Amino acid sequence: MDHFLYHNGILHAEDVAIPEIAAMVGTPFYVYSCATLTRHYHLFEEALAGLDHLVCFAMKSNSNQAVIAHLAGLGAGMDVVSGGEYLRARAAGVPGERIVFSGVGKTRDEMHMALTGGIRQFNVESEPELIALSEVATALGVTAPITVRVNPDVDAKTHEKIATGKSENKFGIPIAKAPAVYALAASLSGIAVVGIDVHIGSQLTDLEPFRQAYQKVRELTLRLRAEGHDIRRLDLGGGLGIPYERNNSAPPLPTEYGALIREVFHDLEVEVEIEPGRLISGNAGLLVTSVIYVKEGEGRDFLILDAAMNDLVRPAMYGAWHDIVPVKEPAPGDEQRPFDVVGPVCETGDTFAKQRQMTPVAAGDLVAFRSAGAYGAVMASEYNTRPLIPEVMVKGDQFAVIRARPTFDEIINRDTVPSWG
Ligand code: LLP
Repeated sequence: MDHFLYHNGILHAEDVAIPEIAAMVGTPFYVYSCATLTRHYHLFEEALAGLDHLVCFAMKSNSNQAVIAHLAGLGAGMDVVSGGEYLRARAAGVPGERIVFSGVGKTRDEMHMALTGGIRQFNVESEPELIALSEVATALGVTAPITVRVNPDVDAKTHEKIATGKSENKFGIPIAKAPAVYALAASLSGIAVVGIDVHIGSQLTDLEPFRQAYQKVRELTLRLRAEGHDIRRLDLGGGLGIPYERNNSAPPLPTEYGALIREVFHDLEVEVEIEPGRLISGNAGLLVTSVIYVKEGEGRDFLILDAAMNDLVRPAMYGAWHDIVPVKEPAPGDEQRPFDVVGPVCETGDTFAKQRQMTPVAAGDLVAFRSAGAYGAVMASEYNTRPLIPEVMVKGDQFAVIRARPTFDEIINRDTVPSWG
């Protein structure tokens, strides 16, 4: 559920009419709903109620500081994967002890930054990384709390580009090797083992892969404890999928996911962390765009929008589906016909949808992509020298620009033309 509904025939974000925002900031833009962020965060809080837990929002899905600050205000921790995300979380007011640092290639500079700024834990993904972290922490005279990310060799049954838990993927340490890596961790200075981490992929629409992975983590917990390691925390990753196709998909609910976590871990006396991104931010955002032209092609009609693949890359990159809806509500009997929905960027990959059934719209009309709050703005680029588009946040009947559109001068002046001697 989200808070983007039609009122009086016009799509609203909470109580604000989308055309009102468009008139103020111009198109295209992203708009996020505070109420939806809150609701989705609470779904996880409720799903894990009674367990010692921390919900760490995966900032990679949406790292605008207004989003981060809103979630942190509700009690969320953050999952960061770069020094930049770490600094953003801190700038948004998130305390270090609520930040977990994930990622397969943390640099020594990033380790230094987090160790001096404060960190809840590093999720370590390899032996060389463990040794580097030990050296950085020892040099600073501090102790780095760590989990080891294990790769359980489970098929997440999701898009191949976002599956991470198979042995062929670059992530984590093969679970069979974990006891040796924990023994190494225990022998290193500046390292304190606090738990185990796992994350098998994103946009999972079936609980079974989670069950298989979590069962393996349970067994590993018992074994490592028997070997003397202090496994008091389990980071169970993110990955719960969302219904991109409203009329055609029903992924498991956070309550069902929470029930599975309870079932597998209830008797272990551990603190549970999860790292959801998409389920919190995905359906909390729309990408709003205008139709530039409706072009009649050979046997097909093109809807040419002012948003493009550089603004929302998911369809071009993963063949992802986003529901596309007109901002002016279609009348009940309005006929639909197929359109190829495209952007103005100069490559055929700049196609959002092919032969999508839509009620006809005209040049100048507004249309919205649903489920665009996760992996939308954060993956945008300035390809074709198209400025990054503004982000807007709505709360009830108020809205605020939370990132302004840069001017062309700002973009162009970033380059320097050398005057060779
Ligand atoms: N934790 C770790 C270690 C991750 O790598 C990810 C996502 C998450 C948590 C959050 O997963 P979520 O709950 O959002 O599924 N750009 C792709 C998705 C990449 C996901 C990468 N890792 C897309 O647009 O579908």
